[in-house]
Amino acid sequence: MVVFSHANWRKPTIRTLDRPSIFLAGAVTALLFLWAFFFLSTLDSNPIFKNNNSCKCNQPDPAFDLQSDPPVTTFYDDPSFGYTIDKRIKNWDHKRKLWLDVHPSFEPKSKDRVFIVTGSKSTPCKGPAGDHYLLRFYRNKVDYCRIHGYDIFYNNVLLDPEMPSCWAKIAAVRAAMVAHPEAEWIWWLDEDAVFTDMEYKIPFHKYKDYNFVVHGWPKEVYEKKSWLGLNAGSFLIRNCQWSLDFLESWADMGPRSENYEKWAGVLSNVFKHENDDQTALAYLLLKDHEKWYGKKMLIETGYYLEGYWVLIVDTLKNITERYLEIETRAGMLRRRHAEMVSERYGLLREPSLKDAGNEYGSWRRPFVTHFAGCQPCNGKHNPVFTAKGCRNAMNKALNFADNQVLRNYGFVHRNLSDSSVVSPLPFDYPA
Ligand SMILES: *[C@@H]1O[C@H](CO)[C@@H](O)[C@H](O)[C@H]1NC(C)=O
Ligand SMILES: *[C@@H]1O[C@H](CO)[C@@H](O)[C@H](O)[C@H]1NC(C)=O
Ligand SMILES: *[C@@H]1O[C@H](CO)[C@@H](O)[C@H](O)[C@H]1NC(C)=O
Repeated sequence: MVVFSHANWRKPTIRTLDRPSIFLAGAVTALLFLWAFFFLSTLDSNPIFKNNNSCKCNQPDPAFDLQSDPPVTTFYDDPSFGYTIDKRIKNWDHKRKLWLDVHPSFEPKSKDRVFIVTGSKSTPCKGPAGDHYLLRFYRNKVDYCRIHGYDIFYNNVLLDPEMPSCWAKIAAVRAAMVAHPEAEWIWWLDEDAVFTDMEYKIPFHKYKDYNFVVHGWPKEVYEKKSWLGLNAGSFLIRNCQWSLDFLESWADMGPRSENYEKWAGVLSNVFKHENDDQTALAYLLLKDHEKWYGKKMLIETGYYLEGYWVLIVDTLKNITERYLEIETRAGMLRRRHAEMVSERYGLLREPSLKDAGNEYGSWRRPFVTHFAGCQPCNGKHNPVFTAKGCRNAMNKALNFADNQVLRNYGFVHRNLSDSSVVSPLPFDYPA
């Protein structure tokens, strides 16, 4: 029983296989048999392995009934219903619930199901290797989704021609909310945001009183009135009526609105910056900060829901080493496993990370690294960076993330700067 729960557990019988000549083949077989017997018999009695029937929160969705859509009228049958911002929806919470009532296979977990939305332009990238990076950024998101059982939508058309560039996300999120009534949270991620911790999960239990969550520094927004006090490249929005109204207010500040000029004046006054999606968002947070509306919005400071790559990329090497140290000590974390049960190993690692901190200055893997200012697709990077510097940084972050995924396929990029070379991982690495 103690065997598997001990953090420093090592597999003595297996290690002897490194030196099989010491033993007679028969002895090895007998030991292996004994080991297997003990291993299997500890599964049931060890709490780590025991199914917790009273809490299914970490289990994946039960199978959806993908072929059932009963002929009962739902909001989809209402001719006035629409996917665009200008088609106002009322009573959404009730409508969503009615839809779930007639599609009961989607009901379990409908209070915390996540749907990721991301996207890029419909035309090929102009920047060198831009499409290559977009593909890798997208692959990274698909990896995260596969590991955590999330769905994802990659939009690469302009859903609202009057809301181009940075504003386009609003139309995509709006359409996704009504296309996915089974999802409680829509999570917008910019195309150039990378998951650099494949294990970390958003602490949704913290957000039961919130409908909108973005990463930033409250003081910068509320006191210093800085549009850089948050970043709109990654945000969570609850699939509810409040959010539909919120998206409407946000879009009303954008180029599709007759109030666009007015808002441009207000924003340049308050934030000394042009009217873009992020400045508008900062304004919405600031304006209603103390009121009911604003109280539903949270600026997350506890972890990198979005992290600035400049502060992150140089820390990845040391973080890799810290994690290797942990794995050297904790045998369970070295155990090979199927990719589909990776979340289990994320949970097992948590106790070793309790002193790691989170966010800036921490040695925990940064959750999301955002290549703001690199503009790999259009090639028009911020002049304070170089194209090469951006590419090097993107490669490091993508390979750092890829190592967490490839591990489950038995490989590793030993050199984070070299995207094309991997080596096989030995058994029990890094013991
Ligand atoms: C099982 O889940 C319940 C409910 O969440 C929790 O109170 C209990 O501690 C869990 N038991 C184990 C062995 O994890
Ligand atoms: C990495 O760790 C070394 C040794 O502890 C330290 O000197 C160095 O400053 C660290 N680098 C970063 C970027 O944190
Ligand atoms: C890592 O890969 C880069 C790119 O191929 C190469 O320039 C560098 O020399 C490699 N570093 C090591 C330590 O091999």
